[in-house]
Amino acid sequence: MAPPPSSTSSAVTLKINGDKHTLSVDHRTTLLDALRERLDLTGTKKGCDQGQCGACTVLLDGRRAVACLQLAVAAEDREITTVEGLAEAGQLHPVQQAFLDLDGYQCGYCTPGQICSAVAVIEEHAAGWPSAVTDDVRPEVGAPPLTADEIRERMSGNLCRCGAYVSIVQAVARAAEARMSQEAAV
Ligand code: FES
Ligand code: FES
Repeated sequence: MAPPPSSTSSAVTLKINGDKHTLSVDHRTTLLDALRERLDLTGTKKGCDQGQCGACTVLLDGRRAVACLQLAVAAEDREITTVEGLAEAGQLHPVQQAFLDLDGYQCGYCTPGQICSAVAVIEEHAAGWPSAVTDDVRPEVGAPPLTADEIRERMSGNLCRCGAYVSIVQAVARAAEARMSQEAAV
């Protein structure tokens, strides 16, 4: 049973993958620890625990965030999506499928963070957001082609100790192409 609230803890309701979870957390508890230690959502990985590796990347209101630098109490009222919430109706998310098809991993430890980041990267690109390697950032020019350099830059917050970067870039490119074709067909 959850401990009663105190001056150092509060009840918080987190909306994760569409489900609400109410729990009492110490104010210093990170979202990452709440997910993994309190809610058994262990798909989100802890690598550095200090915002440097991207292993703990989740989506907050559709935008990527490292869960180790986010306090659980500050995530109340946000739509939190973890890797466990990406598949729908038994179908892997296209990014998950692309990682699977193209071997976008070796040990797989960084993979949930890579996949969550890639989901957001593809949406950011589709919305026309430039990156640090975009040549022409004028809004009227729109999104640049999602080249390997663009993907590498946009995914640069996610480290892979196994060095599976070549396949990761290919997987992100494939999922982005699938998204564009789907959009063109609508
Ligand atoms: S565990 Fe969060 S960025 Fe490394
Ligand atoms: S697949 Fe092993 S750390 Fe990336």
